[in-house]
Amino acid sequence: MFASGGGSNLQAICDHLDALGAAAPADLVLVVSDRKDAVALERARKRRVAAEWAPRDDPQAVIEVLETHEVGCIALAGYLRLVPARVIAAFRGRIVNVHPALLPAFGGPGMYGARVHEAVLRAGARITGPTVHFVNERYDEGAIIAQWPVPVREEDTPASLARRVLAAEHRLYPRCVAALCAGALTLGDDGRVHGADAFAFDTAPAVA
Ligand code: GRF
Repeated sequence: MFASGGGSNLQAICDHLDALGAAAPADLVLVVSDRKDAVALERARKRRVAAEWAPRDDPQAVIEVLETHEVGCIALAGYLRLVPARVIAAFRGRIVNVHPALLPAFGGPGMYGARVHEAVLRAGARITGPTVHFVNERYDEGAIIAQWPVPVREEDTPASLARRVLAAEHRLYPRCVAALCAGALTLGDDGRVHGADAFAFDTAPAVA
C-alpha cells in the first residue's frame, strides 16, 4: 500500500484480511510513503510489515522497493503524489485508489482532504461517497470500479461529511482490494472493468 497520511484505510484493509483469515487472498507486504512521519508507516511497523520511505522525486527508489518485496498489487490510500509512470505501466490493472467523492466530479489535481468535501457542499450536491478506481497516469481518472452513495445532510460540515464518507470507504475499499488480489476484479485491454458488479451499492448494505 502507498499512503501519505493517517492510513485508516490501510488499517481497514488489514482488519479485513485478518477477518478473512486463511481465506485471505493476499498479505500486506509493504507500505510505501513519501512522508517519513506518515502514521501509515507506524501502523505498518506495528504489524511487522516493511515500511519504506520513498522520496517523491525518485521513481527508481519506488520501483526497487516494489521489486525487493515482490509486490503483486498496489492499493493507494491517501497517497498524495502522482505514482511514477513506470510504476503505473508495470502495474496496469493491478493498482487501485480510493477517492472521497463520486468521480468524475470533485476530483483531479489538488482535490484531496477537506477540499473535496468543501467543494461538494459548495456545489449543493445531495449525494457524495467514495469511488474506488484503477489508477492511470492522471489524478483520479482511471476506470471506475465501485461507488457507494452517502447522502449529504443539511447540517453537514466538511468534517462531518468526511467522517461519513471515510466510514463508507472502510467498508468498500478492503472488499475491492481483496477482490483485486484474488483475481476477481480485472481491467480489460479495452479499459473496461470486470467483476465490479459485486460492489454495486444496491446489493451492498446501507452505508450512511
Ligand atoms: C481518504 O479519504 C481517501 O479517500 C483519500 O485519502 C484519504 C485517506 O485517509 N484518497 P486514510 O489515510 O486512509 O485515513
